[in-house]
Amino acid sequence: MAIERTFSILKPDATRRNLTGAINAKIEQAGLRIIAQKRVWMTRGQAETFYGVHRERPFFGELVDTMTSGPVVVQVLEGDNAIKKYREVMGATNPEKADAGTIRKDFAVSMGENSVHGSDAPETAAIEIAQWFSGNEIVG
Ligand code: RTP
Ligand code: MG
Repeated sequence: MAIERTFSILKPDATRRNLTGAINAKIEQAGLRIIAQKRVWMTRGQAETFYGVHRERPFFGELVDTMTSGPVVVQVLEGDNAIKKYREVMGATNPEKADAGTIRKDFAVSMGENSVHGSDAPETAAIEIAQWFSGNEIVG
């Protein structure tokens, strides 16, 4: 198994409902280590850059509105197969379709307010980590 790093966001619906500790507990119970973490309020420009791959999608404006509606916690997670493992811990994008015990099943409100983001591939993980953290902020 390969030790990987992935990028995570605890979204505004999670910070608003005081769920950051509960979500971090699920992350750590899954064997992932939080090796960088900070709380930020994204600007529209930062959110548009972050979700640039979805720029042409009909939900893009709503997605940027939601991601800038309150503070978020950005994180780097490390562990065996961290990218895939975190996607499993998160659960399906639509919380109604998420498996029992996942973060989105237990905490998400809706498709738009689905509590967490996780990178979907090694290339995107590297780009996303570099958008939010400098090297000396990541302590593995
Ligand atoms: P994320 O990027 O946030 O980790 O979520 P994901 O990979 O599971 O889903 P993705 O397809 O990348 O979509 C990014 C976020 O956009 C919102 N979304 N809304 N209304 C819709 O049809 C729709 N589809 C996606 C979700 O909040 C999703 O997390
Ligand atoms: Mg995605």
